[in-house]
Amino acid sequence: GAAVEVDISSLKPGEKITVEWRGKPVWIVKRTAEQLAELPKLDGQLADPQSMRNPSELTPEYARNEWRSIKPEILVAVGICSHLGCSPSDKFTPGPQPSLPNDWQGGFLCPCHGSTFDMAGRVFKNKPAPDNLEVPPHMYLSDTKLLIG
Ligand code: FES
Repeated sequence: GAAVEVDISSLKPGEKITVEWRGKPVWIVKRTAEQLAELPKLDGQLADPQSMRNPSELTPEYARNEWRSIKPEILVAVGICSHLGCSPSDKFTPGPQPSLPNDWQGGFLCPCHGSTFDMAGRVFKNKPAPDNLEVPPHMYLSDTKLLIG
C-alpha cells in the first residue's frame, strides 16, 4: 500500500491522532515529559521491555530504544492488539483504575481481554497479548511531517 504523509505540527503533548495505513489504524502520540520519564521504571512489569521479540516485524531498528521511537516524544504504533486484533483504547490518565497495574501511569487498554500497554506500546506481563504493539516503518520528512510506510 501507499505510504501516508502526516502533518503533526498541531499535535500537543498528551494528544493522539490516528491515521489509516494499509487498512490499519496507526497512532501518533505526543508523549508528555512525565510519560517519558515513567518508561524506564516500568521494565520489570513488561513482557518484552527491550523489544527483542520478533524485531523485524514489530520494531524497526531506529525504534529499538527506550521510547520505541525516532523522536523521544513521538510514538508511532499500529493500534491493533497482539492478542486477537482488537483496538486498545487510550488510558492516558495515571492513577489507580480497575483491572490496570497498580501504579498505572497511562497507556492503552485492550477492551477485549484486558491486555495493557505502556506509553511506548509495550505489553504488560500476565495478560493474553504476547507482543508489544507494532511500530510501523516510518521516517520524518521534516520536523513536523511524518511518512508512514
Ligand atoms: Fe486484546 Fe485479546 S484482543 S486482549
